[in-house]
Amino acid sequence: MPPEEFRAAAHRAADLMADYLQGVGAYDVVPKIAPGAVRAELPASPPEQGEGIDGILADYKRLIEPNVTHWNHPGFLAYFAITGSGPGVLGEALAASLNVNAMLWRTGPAPTELEETVCDWLRQAIGLPPEFAGHINDTASISTMLALAAARHRLPGLQIRERGLAGRRDLAALTVYASDQAHSSVDKAAIALGIGLENVRKVPSDKRFRMDAQALRVALRDDRAAGRLPVAVVATAGTTSTTSVDPLREIAGICAEAGVWLHVDAAYAGSACVCPEFRALLDGLECADSIVTNPHKWLFTPVDCSVLFVRDPKLLREAFSLVPEYLRTSETGATNLMDYGVQLGRRFRSLKLWMVMRYFGLEGLRARIRSHVAMAQVFAARVDAEPGFERCAPAPFSTVCFRAVPEHLRHDPAAQDAFNEKLLAEVNAAGPVFLSHTKLRGRYVLRLTIGNLRTEARHVDAAWELVLKRAEFLRNAKG
Ligand SMILES: Cc1ncc(COP(=O)(O)O)c(C=O)c1O
Repeated sequence: MPPEEFRAAAHRAADLMADYLQGVGAYDVVPKIAPGAVRAELPASPPEQGEGIDGILADYKRLIEPNVTHWNHPGFLAYFAITGSGPGVLGEALAASLNVNAMLWRTGPAPTELEETVCDWLRQAIGLPPEFAGHINDTASISTMLALAAARHRLPGLQIRERGLAGRRDLAALTVYASDQAHSSVDKAAIALGIGLENVRKVPSDKRFRMDAQALRVALRDDRAAGRLPVAVVATAGTTSTTSVDPLREIAGICAEAGVWLHVDAAYAGSACVCPEFRALLDGLECADSIVTNPHKWLFTPVDCSVLFVRDPKLLREAFSLVPEYLRTSETGATNLMDYGVQLGRRFRSLKLWMVMRYFGLEGLRARIRSHVAMAQVFAARVDAEPGFERCAPAPFSTVCFRAVPEHLRHDPAAQDAFNEKLLAEVNAAGPVFLSHTKLRGRYVLRLTIGNLRTEARHVDAAWELVLKRAEFLRNAKG
């Protein structure tokens, strides 16, 4: 693509992006299409001859843009809502034009040093001591897997890096601990690391969905007595269903006593720690050996961007560093990012995080997170005040779990579940908002979460009105 053609096309793409972000609220959050609909519109084979960019952009506008689920929609209130903010999108675009592969300092001096710098900014912003060093990965799932690999590497005498796990009679069952509310990425890490699902202990949670620390203590003690080898405890700060925070300080004390690595999954709530009042809810975070937080969840940075903080980066490096001849360089004292994980090639993710942090400033980030929490608290209060509804968990941040309890189904939990499932389908089918669900103690629960910069009080109000209306409709239909 000749430079002048690129320039003109880039201006048009910028217009497409700006128009999209300005008008995204006019779409239904979830496109009303059936599986296969997009594929049916696409040619089955690649074009033999090249095409002009005009036709490609026209097809993007016609076929792609309307048929995504609009995570940038102000009515997106499902899962953990996220934002591709203006500065973040620009960071992505600029990183794409540089197309740097920062596997080594030599192959990406500024990306390497910017990554070190913004991770350290984030460390300070969320209140961690200076010994923590951050590395950017694609997702929390990968960050957690890497942290557990470092934890395993710290165990003396196992030599798993060299000898692997297969056929070894000298190895006790390596065991990982997490609450019954922990994210499935812990299980997936256990699969990938050869620890195995059966060796992930699901520690029960209390009434407020926090890990029962005493149950953890007992599990560690009993497992050791039975000859198992605890590798790590994964505590969660902001669980996926309810955003509960495990008692980090108490768990850290138990881990220290038992000599076990503590990894904290703060994928969601880590961002809230830029506000001192929310950092206080994660008391003890600073005692962890490793922590993951996702700026792509609640720090307005486009997917993907996950930061893994480790107290002793040397362990991560020892677990993974392997330098073939063609990657040897002569610099001394330089960080080579490839040494801190499985992947060699690396996207320049720190650029967008740098632009987000500079554009909003910590004050701006705090104000926006506080406004999300405030909107969620208003929603929670509405649920609490509404007969025929109940809140199903504390809401410490911007996520509210609730359900309808219609009078005619008061004594029939299974029918209540079916009612709420239908209610969610009705609400989401309407178009302007999108909520999600979970199960708590076996009961079907609706979940509303706020994390998008474009969400205003009126969108949350609209969601509540819709919930009330559709619930009334279903009650009248004796749904
Ligand atoms: C608490 C928690 N941890 C980890 C993850 C996984 O995040 P990722 O998609 O970055 O792997 C999620 C996803 O929502 C989550 O809620």
